[in-house]
Amino acid sequence: MAENKTYYISTPIYYPSDKLHIGHSYTTVAADCMARYKRLKGFDVMFLTGTDEHGIKIEKRAAAKGVTPQKYVDDIVAGIKDLWSIMDISYDKFIRTTDDYHVKAVQKIFKELYDKGEIYKGFYEGYYCTPCESFWTKTQLVDGCKCPDCGAETQIAKEDCYFFRLSKYSRVLIDYFNDHPEFISPAARKNEMIVNFLEKGLEDLCVSRSSFKWGIPVTFDEGHVVYVWVDALSNYITALGYGSDDTSLYDKFWPCDLHLVGKEIVRFHTIIWPAILMALGLPLPKRVYGHGWLLLNGDKMSKSKGNVVDPVVLVNKYSSDAIRYFLLREVPFGSDGSFTPDALLTRINADLANDLGNLVSRTVSMQLKYFGGIAPSEADRKSEAIDNEIIGMFKELKANVEEQMEALQFPLALTEIWKCVSRLNKYIDETAPWALAKNEDDKPRLAQVLYVLCEGIRIIGVLLEPFMPRTPERIFEQLGIAGNAAITSWDSCSEWGLYPAGTVCKKGDALFPRLDIQKELEDLEAIKIANAEAAKAAAPSPAQAPVKDAGAEGLATIDDFAKIKLVIAEVVSAEAVEGSNKLLKLQLNVGSATKQVVSGIAKAYKPEDLVGKKVVFINNLVPAKLKGVVSEGMVLAASNGCSLSLLTSFEDMPAGTEIY
Ligand code: MSP
Repeated sequence: MAENKTYYISTPIYYPSDKLHIGHSYTTVAADCMARYKRLKGFDVMFLTGTDEHGIKIEKRAAAKGVTPQKYVDDIVAGIKDLWSIMDISYDKFIRTTDDYHVKAVQKIFKELYDKGEIYKGFYEGYYCTPCESFWTKTQLVDGCKCPDCGAETQIAKEDCYFFRLSKYSRVLIDYFNDHPEFISPAARKNEMIVNFLEKGLEDLCVSRSSFKWGIPVTFDEGHVVYVWVDALSNYITALGYGSDDTSLYDKFWPCDLHLVGKEIVRFHTIIWPAILMALGLPLPKRVYGHGWLLLNGDKMSKSKGNVVDPVVLVNKYSSDAIRYFLLREVPFGSDGSFTPDALLTRINADLANDLGNLVSRTVSMQLKYFGGIAPSEADRKSEAIDNEIIGMFKELKANVEEQMEALQFPLALTEIWKCVSRLNKYIDETAPWALAKNEDDKPRLAQVLYVLCEGIRIIGVLLEPFMPRTPERIFEQLGIAGNAAITSWDSCSEWGLYPAGTVCKKGDALFPRLDIQKELEDLEAIKIANAEAAKAAAPSPAQAPVKDAGAEGLATIDDFAKIKLVIAEVVSAEAVEGSNKLLKLQLNVGSATKQVVSGIAKAYKPEDLVGKKVVFINNLVPAKLKGVVSEGMVLAASNGCSLSLLTSFEDMPAGTEIY
């Protein structure tokens, strides 16, 4: 047991610009699993999460909704806290960057950096991405003018601002990375940082903005607010009281043991954050781990792409433990991986209902049937060689799980546990307790088989605690050992044979009822469609002008309009349809996919003039065939019968943007 050892772990602070999706839950569940593991190991843990609430995006969202930015974020943050509650996220502190203590501490940090000459005033001219609130240099842009992070088109913008002298840290950071190989994991991300950023030379970083107001005011220059990363990154120390009168938590927990972040923000955490800390003369975090993304159909989930999965729906349907298990088991930690409803449901049925659930229910049923539920004493049990193999596996299990946990390999830690789950299931088949039960002479052997099963399940239950906080208690209830701290503590897992003789087990509900996958897939699809419709109807839009006599002939209701999914689409290629002088066949990039449309615009447009144009596309029409060619929607055009003009020219909007 570790005495007086502290462990500080953080998640990124999430943007409350919208409800969080399953990708955000992924980071948080992983951090929670680690925090729980360390607590079980006896560490004094500080697990920090929170929200990153400032910036132009929030300001705009709030304005579109007709509420103040503070009201806007308050509502979303309430939902985020509810989500963490139903997912059993055991954070010790939730920081909001609008919290008063954070605001004051950031103002102090900014002033201190300015006084030290680490921040100076200048002006910025560059390529600005509005959705990401980031300036980019020309060389960083993709396809000539697009943001390398989100793909939106950037615009040239100029603004007075303060700069942080990041450029002077390129060499210092390369040396630091090389001297501290454990600082960035997985190791490949360290090389990415060195080759893609540090060796190319860092540029000074714009750290204030004057074009919007929703931020922390710079105390000594009215009109400037602290720009997102200094505000956001400082949360890791302001949450501990840095910059306030009470720094006891800071003194206790800083430097952080682990910043767990998604791969796209490794750069901010391993370059900008260490440079700020160096400038302040503070110690650096011990480790930054950049995990991969949870992808949906090969794409990063994002609300603007319309491909998000709502964790609340999944948790309500299948339980938090099942969703946590899937997130921690499915994807090798550090790499990208896919979320599909099919994979989730298959995992629940195979691993949880079949492997684990059946093991527990079969064992408890047999103990009840053959021994009235009471574990026989050692003297009444007869061992055989096969038991030693199982016992050997279990004696190593805790160490194997811990080794994987220290490497943040949650899926491999679970694999170790499941090897034992499967081994016990096989042991039941090999020892055939139902056959032993037929013969009174075999009773001692039967007693031992059931003991091995109960004791193995006890150890499995304990080791599952960091991953699935609710299931172990349900297992212990059935084994009759709930509340017995001595034999359900983490350390108790290194010992075999603690399940006490005389313990009375009891039948419980199935841990994870078996699912009808086809039915569940249909349910999930129906919920997705219903939610999308509800979100669309609730979205602020000009179409929400009061509709008089909505049901009257010729008038459409808001619900009618919500059925039509309009998006901006980019023409990727165009060609004439054979045998027609009116029709053109277009391939359109609609953001998440390429769609084919056949359109009667050949008289107004030459195919080659259309490529690259952005048009309005109805994305959910029932497909039809024109001249035998499939058309998956319709592009909108204005026509007076003589001339025709496509609705076009959305140059600063990426393909896939919804129109409502
Ligand atoms: N506010 C910043 C972080 C500031 S930390 C000082 C931010 N917020 S975010 O809400 O956009 O993302 C927060 C985290 O969620 C990131 O680690 C990001 O990688 C993670 N994820 C968002 N979508 C994800 C997936 N689809 N898959 C895995 N993680 C994902 O960035």
